[in-house]
Amino acid sequence: MEGALPSPNIWNDADTYEVENRAVDRSGLIEAAMERIVAEHAWAGGPGNSHGAAGPTGSPHSWGRVLDIGCGAGFHLPRWAERAEHVVGIEPHPPLVERARRRVADLGPELAARVDVRRGTAQDLPVEAGVVDVAHARWAYFFGPGCEPGLAELDRVMAPGGVAFVVDNDASTSTFGSWFRRAFPEYDPAAITRFWRRAGWTREPLLVSWETDTREEFEAIVRIEFTPDLAGRILAEHPGTSVDYAVDLWWKAY
Ligand SMILES: C[S@@+](CC[C@H](N)C(=O)[O-])C[C@H]1O[C@@H](n2cnc3c(N)ncnc32)[C@H](O)[C@@H]1O
Repeated sequence: MEGALPSPNIWNDADTYEVENRAVDRSGLIEAAMERIVAEHAWAGGPGNSHGAAGPTGSPHSWGRVLDIGCGAGFHLPRWAERAEHVVGIEPHPPLVERARRRVADLGPELAARVDVRRGTAQDLPVEAGVVDVAHARWAYFFGPGCEPGLAELDRVMAPGGVAFVVDNDASTSTFGSWFRRAFPEYDPAAITRFWRRAGWTREPLLVSWETDTREEFEAIVRIEFTPDLAGRILAEHPGTSVDYAVDLWWKAY
């Protein structure tokens, strides 16, 4: 699909990517930070929004209408469905659209009725203007320097009082960050930070981790993220089933 950026980890091995998603942030720091930011900044911090859908924080539908951009196999959609009135997942890669739809169908009729998976890209969102209360894009390398068309689309679809989140690597620190810098020496964390700040976004740095149940799982997820050579070197020097992982939760209130 035009505008879709290849994502070898999840495109080539969606089963192992599922293991990776289960390994990320088992303590829930990212979602706790999102909860707090929505409570403090969405709808001027008060219950109810421009269309009256959102309720007080903690109520079942407190997040109103959620958009997950680049939702992959839909790993996060059930979590948003627990908080939101309605959830739309956007994904360009057809096999992942199918996987996400199957996941939603497995939620049962009540939750599934409120979740919709659409094929599309960040640059051309199949979503009407001004209807999104909370947007989420995770490991969304299609956002960042050069992604201005995607940011313009966000501006179009966000509702007044909404909050948008982008969750991404902070390669400047942590053990995982050092692996990332070895894989992508041209990656410039300071330039990424400048880009988001210039665009009016706020940074919430978080130190999360990958934790797997077995060494076999740990090795599998390292191998889908790095070249065989680098993965072999990382695994030779890093024992165990976990690694500290710095992320940036970027957010913007509309
Ligand atoms: C690394 S995966 C992350 C998937 C999901 N957010 C998660 O955390 O499980 C990135 C996803 O972005 C999708 N993608 C690639 N280019 C995109 C674009 N231009 N707009 C929206 N999504 C895109 C890929 O197909 C892939 O599913």
